[in-house]
Amino acid sequence: MITVIQSPTDSDFVQNPYPFYTSARTSSPLQFWTEYDMPAAFSYEAVQALLKDRRFGREIPAEMATSGPAHLAPFLMTEAHSLLDAEPPRHTRLRRLVLRAFTSRAITALSDDIEALCHQLIDTFPDTPFDLLDTYCTQLPVIIICRLLGVPEDMASQLLKWSHDIVAMYQASRTLETEHRAAAASAEFIDFLRGYIDQRRNDPREDLITRLITAEEEGESLSTDELIATCILLLNAGHEATVHSIGNGVKCLLEHGLNPEWLKPEGIDRTVEEILRYDPPLHMFTRYAYEEIEVFGHTFQRGDQVALLLGAANRDPQGFAGAETFNPTREIKTNTAFGGGLHFCVGAPLARLEMKFALPILFERCPNLALAEPPRYSNTYHFHGLTRLMVTT
Ligand code: HEM
Repeated sequence: MITVIQSPTDSDFVQNPYPFYTSARTSSPLQFWTEYDMPAAFSYEAVQALLKDRRFGREIPAEMATSGPAHLAPFLMTEAHSLLDAEPPRHTRLRRLVLRAFTSRAITALSDDIEALCHQLIDTFPDTPFDLLDTYCTQLPVIIICRLLGVPEDMASQLLKWSHDIVAMYQASRTLETEHRAAAASAEFIDFLRGYIDQRRNDPREDLITRLITAEEEGESLSTDELIATCILLLNAGHEATVHSIGNGVKCLLEHGLNPEWLKPEGIDRTVEEILRYDPPLHMFTRYAYEEIEVFGHTFQRGDQVALLLGAANRDPQGFAGAETFNPTREIKTNTAFGGGLHFCVGAPLARLEMKFALPILFERCPNLALAEPPRYSNTYHFHGLTRLMVTT
């Protein structure tokens, strides 16, 4: 297997990882990525195939699982009970419960709420240059996920802080300090949810926490630790990537010279998919092999890992004609921004809906929207999002 060398914290790479993806993709479907110490798939075909291959999965093989370092205990507790890191039958049980709240119908019902919130946020925009990422792109998804779960909206800024501290664990820039912060944030988040869930037991409402509490109390489908881990996963995943898909989208539209047709009702679905394809907010996930598997010319042993480069697959010319060109009029074809197979993103309908409202309303209300400074991506690979998005209206 060909070896590739690329630091994921290198500044040029962080700002524009796509040239590396292109060069890595050209020689063969799998390359050994030195810094991650594992084979990596860069092509559309290989990433799609591996996402769907049930001989690979996210849960660590039982014989490799350790209790982990003591200082990480609260963080590891949430991971251990998270559906994202589970495989069937645990995954099936947890995902089924969550999916009840994420049906297309339930999500479409949020449309009016999302639309109204976009307008309210725009009403607060100042006349001087300001950070759209903070003021708009972040607020919309975090407030909506609070409402969906049934967590008080005034917790939003606290949730953001906990979430940022926790997801930093998945970033290439992780240090010992990151670990301590993530553990502290997890402990506080768990404490808050334990108390809040207890308080909500006698106060049922029309929200996801109520449904999950009912499932837990009925005893067959959810333990208390799973209930807490699921809430944390949803509260974090419910905004982290959407914030940056809106941010990357605004950047992309401004830099490519917005064509108003792209945001009209007949064009917006394609525009949203193209933004998610062209500059997705999450670039890489990994899988464990569960048996000896020969795939794309490489033999994996049980426990070996493989990296799936979602951001690279989306730019593969074998998957998308003219893949390096941002073209919001292209026919919709499944891209890998939301993953695929068993762990396909539960929140995809919600994220798409938020983008579908956030972008047209923003450009309609702010026709002179312009960048106030060149936006830069944060050093947070495999996340791919802006540090800030300074604009004028
Ligand atoms: C544009 C925004 C989003 C992107 C790009 C995104 C991307 C992804 C990806 C790539 C995965 C699969 C990871 C893997 O296969 O290893 C995933 C899983 C997941 N996402 Fe999202 N996501 C977004 C928004 C959301 C939202 C809004 C929510 C919740 C409200 C959410 C909840 C989840 C959950 C619960 C999973 C785990 C599913 C499972 O393991 O079965 N995501 N997401």
